[in-house]
Amino acid sequence: MSNFVYLNGEYLPADKAQVSVLDRGFMFGDGVYEVIPMYSGKAFALQQHLDRLQRSLDAIEIKNPLDISDWQEVIDQLIDKNTGEQDAMIYLQLTRGVMQKRNHVFSRDMQPTILIMCQPASYPSQDKNTQGVKVITKDDNRWADCYIKSINLLPNVLLKQFAADHDAIESVLIRDGFVVEGSASNLFIVKDDVIRTPPISRHMLGGITREVILNVCSDEKIVAREIAVSEDDLHDADEVWITSSTKEIVPVTTLNQHKVGNGLPGPKWLQLIELYQQYKQNVMRA
Ligand code: PDD
Repeated sequence: MSNFVYLNGEYLPADKAQVSVLDRGFMFGDGVYEVIPMYSGKAFALQQHLDRLQRSLDAIEIKNPLDISDWQEVIDQLIDKNTGEQDAMIYLQLTRGVMQKRNHVFSRDMQPTILIMCQPASYPSQDKNTQGVKVITKDDNRWADCYIKSINLLPNVLLKQFAADHDAIESVLIRDGFVVEGSASNLFIVKDDVIRTPPISRHMLGGITREVILNVCSDEKIVAREIAVSEDDLHDADEVWITSSTKEIVPVTTLNQHKVGNGLPGPKWLQLIELYQQYKQNVMRA
């Protein structure tokens, strides 16, 4: 896979792409991003990702410099230059741009910096023989506007590192006794055959993978509720999954020091991961 990135209108080898030290992304984390899965050379759920990007941009008052067809065109060209038909992930970042002098206050007519990269990826949940993963619970100490997909990820980085340091792959974040999401994923539980996931709120990022799973459940008449999940519900669940664009749907088999259910990936996960793969194939063929 070659390593070209798109930076402000140019396709450049990654090691030649440079951004000013006065870019507000570098100085303040003043920007937003998207991570878009790409299967066999095609971006998945691109429209939903671009819609969420627009919501993030609106929330921080950056004008979207490209329209949908421009984004599509630029992403397609970058994929052609890099991977061809492989599976990969597309990382897209927009910052408020370069300032003249360090100043927290921003001007509303700045030229945003646009970066898009493409990196090889393998999607772990395609392995049906997985033993599942371990997660660990942790208080959610992030800010109140987590629906914005901000590049300012220091809390998430520390929460993820906390998990890694405890041999877990994710911290599950608890706010006032209720599950919010993971540090870089959303969360589902299964209890008595009913799938549940916390409802959208400003405290979490509405994941595109989460949205696709809920749509698949609705199409297949599988009961899935967007309803509050307490910490007790989490500990009492028959199955727990984490979901994201880079993980798809991963079964959690250890929560803190305890087994989830019987300690193996559960039947609902297996059903959903099969339906998810089918859905992907149908979309990618269309
Ligand atoms: N993160 N919640 C948070 C805090 C996330 O960072 C992510 C994804 C999700 C899941 O969203 P989606 O299904 O749209 O990927 C939920 C990406 C993968 C990342 O930061 O790398």
